[in-house]
Amino acid sequence: MAVVELGPERCDALLRFFGELPEGDLTFIKEEVTDPETVRSWATGDSAGGRWVAVDTGGEGGDGRDDVTGYVAVRPLPGWSDHVGEVRLVVAPSRRGSGLGRELARQALVGAVSSGLSKLVVEVVAEQGAALALFTDLGFSGEALLRDHIRGRDGELRDLMVLAHHVSDTWSGMDTVGVADELGAPAG
Ligand SMILES: CC(C)(COP(=O)(O)OP(=O)(O)OC[C@H]1O[C@@H](n2cnc3c(N)ncnc32)[C@H](O)[C@@H]1OP(=O)(O)O)[C@@H](O)C(=O)NCCC(=O)NCCS
Repeated sequence: MAVVELGPERCDALLRFFGELPEGDLTFIKEEVTDPETVRSWATGDSAGGRWVAVDTGGEGGDGRDDVTGYVAVRPLPGWSDHVGEVRLVVAPSRRGSGLGRELARQALVGAVSSGLSKLVVEVVAEQGAALALFTDLGFSGEALLRDHIRGRDGELRDLMVLAHHVSDTWSGMDTVGVADELGAPAG
């Protein structure tokens, strides 16, 4: 398994990955993920932020194809918040719980800081324990709680948490997870 920047050669595998995700998980991406043209346009490396995929080389089913097993994007917000990046992360249901989400989120943080963003935010459904745990460990903390903000297909209302990471405030936090080293920052 490798985490790589999204390039044109991974777009077909990424489209297959999105096509197999449960509909509820697709909502975390907030973009038209089943449209081939949209996904292909992502691979041209536009603006700040970035997109990365986890790839199983050779394909799980022994068919020789590369499979995408996870996706993370950092999308800069528009206008007066263009120093802020929003993280969108999803891992294939069959691969959850093995550290892949953590690895992708870490890659997103490194990429976002390298591209000059100074704040990152992520929206997490309040009961998503895994998402809360992994972002908190990377130096994110709760900045807003929006009550009854999400309505699931079952009609049930859920709370949404906005977690944020302020890059300049958290160098020491990043140091503890090895991100500062990767960015070439002075230790300590
Ligand atoms: C959130 C998500 C990306 C996590 O992916 P993952 O590959 O399972 O994550 P990891 O395996 O790295 O697990 C992260 C941590 O959460 C912990 N965890 C897993 N399930 C948990 C739960 N129900 N409660 C608390 N912690 C949990 C894991 O133990 C792990 O900690 P550890 O490394 O100390 O053991 C995945 O569940 C997903 O795609 N969810 C749907 C989309 C989503 O919610 N995205 C986040 C907002 S954009």
